[in-house]
Amino acid sequence: MHPDLKEIIITEEKIQSKIKELAGQISEDYKDKDLLMLVILRGGVMFLADLSRNLTINTSIDFMAVTRYSGSMTPSNEVKIIKDLDKPIEDKDVLIIEDIIDNGKTLSFLTEHLKHRKPRSIKICTLLDKPERRKTSIQPDYNGFVIPDKFVVGYGLDYKQRYRNLPYIGVMKQEIYSS
Ligand code: IMP
Ligand code: MG
Repeated sequence: MHPDLKEIIITEEKIQSKIKELAGQISEDYKDKDLLMLVILRGGVMFLADLSRNLTINTSIDFMAVTRYSGSMTPSNEVKIIKDLDKPIEDKDVLIIEDIIDNGKTLSFLTEHLKHRKPRSIKICTLLDKPERRKTSIQPDYNGFVIPDKFVVGYGLDYKQRYRNLPYIGVMKQEIYSS
């Protein structure tokens, strides 16, 4: 285990086996559709890489990067697109790939925004769900694990851009936050 962590809450084996299960379900549900996996940078990339390699159907992939406005006047519930998709999504079956849904504001904004671009369908696939902190009505259509209200890192999730490369999900030691 990485020395900055105090515990691993989801092991690499559990993540990989859950991804196979999700990929099987998605392959079944989208077999007659035109699947576009829309990945939200940067946290969703590990999940995309493993999930897409377990699909048995054709898919295309596109990326988007968003950030919360944190200007002094605005409460940080506005979301700004910093990198948009390269191609239109009209008539595509869009599946948003996320690392985690926390209060849900990012996805709430994004799904509303993307609906104007007239996709045929739009669904959400997240590896982790932290429902205790939800402040919107957003629910994942596919979810790997429900987790308690703890800040987690690893497998795409970061603290100050670190730990994304860990193959498991863990909780940091208290002293790492304070240092
Ligand atoms: P929300 O659902 O709008 O609150 O935003 C979710 C985003 O916040 C995720 O895509 C992550 O980038 C970040 N986030 C939320 N919870 C955690 C966590 O426990 N660890 C690391 N990043 C998190
Ligand atoms: Mg994210």
